[in-house]
Amino acid sequence: MRAIVQDRYGPPGEVLALKEIDRPAPGPGEVLVRVRASSVNTPDWIAITGVPYVLRFQGRVRSGSNVVRGTDVAGVVEELGPEGADRGIGDRVFGSLWTSTFVTAGAFAEFAVVPAERLAPIPAGVGFEEAAASVMSGVTALCAMRDTVQVHEGMKVLVNGASGGVGTFAVQLAAHFGAEVTGVCGTANAAMVRDLGAHHVIDYTRTDFTKGSERYDVVLDNVLNHPPRRTARVLAPGGVLIPNSVGNSGGLLAGLGRMASARMLGSLGRADVRFSPSEANRENLTAVSELLASGVIKAVIDRVYPLQETAQAVAHMLGHHARGNIVISVAKGPRTP
Ligand SMILES: NC(=O)c1ccc[n+]([C@@H]2O[C@H](COP(=O)([O-])OP(=O)(O)OC[C@H]3O[C@@H](n4cnc5c(N)ncnc54)[C@H](OP(=O)(O)O)[C@@H]3O)[C@@H](O)[C@H]2O)c1
Repeated sequence: MRAIVQDRYGPPGEVLALKEIDRPAPGPGEVLVRVRASSVNTPDWIAITGVPYVLRFQGRVRSGSNVVRGTDVAGVVEELGPEGADRGIGDRVFGSLWTSTFVTAGAFAEFAVVPAERLAPIPAGVGFEEAAASVMSGVTALCAMRDTVQVHEGMKVLVNGASGGVGTFAVQLAAHFGAEVTGVCGTANAAMVRDLGAHHVIDYTRTDFTKGSERYDVVLDNVLNHPPRRTARVLAPGGVLIPNSVGNSGGLLAGLGRMASARMLGSLGRADVRFSPSEANRENLTAVSELLASGVIKAVIDRVYPLQETAQAVAHMLGHHARGNIVISVAKGPRTP
């Protein structure tokens, strides 16, 4: 099968290559999915570039190891593993290969093995590309807005980085849960963020939201471009700060330093700081699937790249100005003989 493989860390254009490799075989409780689309997320560019360096300790890429990258998957069930893989051949499914080690994944390929409990059906009327765009971004936003804080009517929610993959879903979900939503984004994305349901938009190129007089019950910070103690100033009494970014600068720690200072702020009792997971399990994927099917949320897709242009897709994400999600279409690439 064709797959995008990596054998060292570095810029995507230098370390990713399209190769013909063996098709993986599903084990117990696993499903072989014929991949139709994937999407690019933060763990993908971290795993490819090896930045922040500190995350390399979670799993090393060895020279010649031909690691296949890609965490989000949408496609068709091709084969079932020996036991417990309760899906039907030919089912349209989407799901996640993400593990916290950053090494194993495998969605940037024609076939991927996925644990059955990390897959859910793609609803009728939703395409593979939209489904792939909704896995990590959609589930992360759902976990933050529904679980980490139970956003409800009457709340004021600010989403920093409202035009990105996670932000576009978070704005839609917060509005759906009845909150008064403020999206922080650049000038070019203001209209889009408003269309997604934001009641107010702050253009970060003109206004620093941390210096405003408005107070919020929830701040979901997908950018961490301000020190957390400054961001915490805009919290209303009892408000919650959700720091959610590894940042976009290189080096040993990148934005992890800001995540650490947010943790410190919480530990010192200066603010209610909560970290939000992205649990792409069957239950959460099914919830995202239902929200897509009912039209409550839609995936904003910046651009679709064919599999052989995965390096360009990852480089685009590394620019940190993607408008919504970046999708890889596996169906579009030319077939190798
Ligand atoms: N908790 C988890 O498990 C989990 C899972 C996935 C992702 N994440 C985190 O979520 C964060 C966001 O992910 P993502 O996929 O949404 O990232 P993303 O798509 O790369 O975000 C790009 C967006 O950020 C906006 N942006 C850039 N600088 C900004 C600024 N100073 N102020 C406001 N907006 C700005 C850009 O808008 P402009 O073009 O207008 O600048 C662009 O639309 C990541 O840092 C990642 O670490 C966490």
